[in-house]
Amino acid sequence: MLTTTLLTLTITLTLLSLTSPSQSTTDVCIIGSGIAGSSVAHFLRQYSSAVNQIRIFERHPVVGGRMATVTIAGETFEAGASILHPKNYHALNFTNMLGLKVKGPSASDSSMSLGIWDGEKFLFKTIDSDSKNQVTVDNFLRYYESKESRPVFSNVEDMLKWADLYNLTTRTLEEELVGLNFSPLLIQELITVITRINYGQSVHISGLAGAVSLAGSGGSLWSVEGGNWQMASGLIKRSDVTLHLQEEISSITNVGDFYELNSTNGNSYTCQITVIATPLDELAIQFTPEIYIPERKLQHTYTTFVRGVLNPAYFGLNSVSDIPELVGTIESPDLPFTCISVLKEHSANDFTYKLFSRQSLTDALLDQIFSIRNETLRINWGAYPHYHAPEEFAPFILDDLHLYYVNAFENAASTMETSAVSAENMARLILSRLAGQQPVGAHGLKSSTSDSNLQHPEL
Ligand SMILES: Cc1cc2nc3c(=O)[nH]c(=O)nc-3n(C[C@H](O)[C@H](O)[C@H](O)COP(=O)(O)OP(=O)(O)OC[C@H]3O[C@@H](n4cnc5c(N)ncnc54)[C@H](O)[C@@H]3O)c2cc1C
Ligand SMILES: *[C@@H]1O[C@H](CO)[C@@H](O)[C@H](O)[C@H]1NC(C)=O
Ligand SMILES: *[C@@H]1O[C@H](CO)[C@@H](O)[C@H](O)[C@H]1NC(C)=O
Ligand SMILES: *[C@@H]1O[C@H](CO)[C@@H](O)[C@H](O)[C@H]1NC(C)=O
Ligand SMILES: *[C@@H]1O[C@H](CO)[C@@H](O)[C@H](O)[C@H]1NC(C)=O
Repeated sequence: MLTTTLLTLTITLTLLSLTSPSQSTTDVCIIGSGIAGSSVAHFLRQYSSAVNQIRIFERHPVVGGRMATVTIAGETFEAGASILHPKNYHALNFTNMLGLKVKGPSASDSSMSLGIWDGEKFLFKTIDSDSKNQVTVDNFLRYYESKESRPVFSNVEDMLKWADLYNLTTRTLEEELVGLNFSPLLIQELITVITRINYGQSVHISGLAGAVSLAGSGGSLWSVEGGNWQMASGLIKRSDVTLHLQEEISSITNVGDFYELNSTNGNSYTCQITVIATPLDELAIQFTPEIYIPERKLQHTYTTFVRGVLNPAYFGLNSVSDIPELVGTIESPDLPFTCISVLKEHSANDFTYKLFSRQSLTDALLDQIFSIRNETLRINWGAYPHYHAPEEFAPFILDDLHLYYVNAFENAASTMETSAVSAENMARLILSRLAGQQPVGAHGLKSSTSDSNLQHPEL
């Protein structure tokens, strides 16, 4: 008898709390723990208290996605995204807020010599990195304007048009440069080398991706000491997120007022809002109802780390010290690699190198390029979109409801910072649509941007 009463009481209280208007019931599920997913969680918490639970699903055992490190011969290096621009303000703020350290360009980085190898000889052997790119960089800074003057964008096209960047996606970098009177030789032998290094592609990428790529070739570049992935890890820890590592989402089903997410672990989750924070192009997530996005290919970049010594004879040189610290390449079907750079000189005859290539580098080939090769490590990245002009964009809102896609912005350019910028807009888009449709309590957008999240204890 007493038990029944208690039970009734408990049920009544539960029902009360469920229907109480001050109780928010909006759960957000985010797929992907890279800079995009972790930034969405961060900005949702910073801008609102209307969101109840935030789950992040990550199929890998670690967070960070394309921000990752490798350890070779006991030393740690960036394996994917490595450099940040001095005006990458979200990354800079995350780094400061999370108590991480900026690793500046080392003396050797800022004076790094560049060589351009055509398969037989060096066409070019040093670089003056003065890019005519200031206009594009300044336009991009508009995305840091205050929320009062900056609209919430519901598609990539509007977001780019607002900052006068859209036109750059309608023409190739080559067309832009020819229009700016760059000589064909400079385009072939210098600009191409840089776009190959940054995006593994030629000057047929869009003007915008090209401009971003050139901005990444200047001085004063930086990274997070100990690994850029710590930005994702830190943001997740301070955003009160339920993190599901090694859990891959295999299906997303719209079931009326919420989505049902099933994972390959056999679990099922429900959430009112679902955010895809990973490129969908190579994934087999089953959507019900189906979604439609423009077809997009990812450019694969094979990253090979070698501890050893390059073979000067391969480059037609006599001594290792004649080989530049960064060897770029031009577009040529015979060239097996895109670039080779020295990550660290341990001694005159002992280096750690990083190679980029469009195909996997065989041992036989590496044995020609290197005279000593003590340790080799290979990663095949689905690295960034294969860019086109005119570029086509997937929608931010995949189903006109609450299924969102942060990585639609990657067709503009793919960098850590652009992912964070897209994520910040995404958080605002989610909250404004949530407020407009009133499925939650009376919280809405916080009027102040003050970082109330600072009170969350570090985990
Ligand atoms: C070799 C290389 C060099 C680069 N260099 C630079 C650079 O110098 N500077 C720069 O700014 N940018 C660089 N980039 C680009 C940069 O890495 C990306 O733009 C950025 O990191 C993308 O972040 P993201 O969060 O959008 O995606 P990701 O980092 O790819 O995160 C997506 C996450 O989702 C997870 N996931 C996917 N599917 C599922 C699923 N079904 N269920 C659960 N989890 C799933 C993935 O495992 C991944 O962890 C480089 C990229 C590469 C590959
Ligand atoms: C970065 O932090 C500074 C200081 O808190 C703030 O004024 C600025 O608006 C922040 N920038 C961005 C892009 O959030
Ligand atoms: C972009 O192109 C359109 C059409 O060609 C033109 O009207 C517009 O002025 C251009 N905008 C910018 C910022 O160059
Ligand atoms: C997801 O899992 C639930 C519970 O196991 C199941 O009923 C449903 O059919 C699954 N959905 C899909 C699309 O597989
Ligand atoms: C590389 O391997 C060779 C042969 O095994 C060895 O003599 C040399 O010391 C090694 N060098 C480094 C830097 O480990």
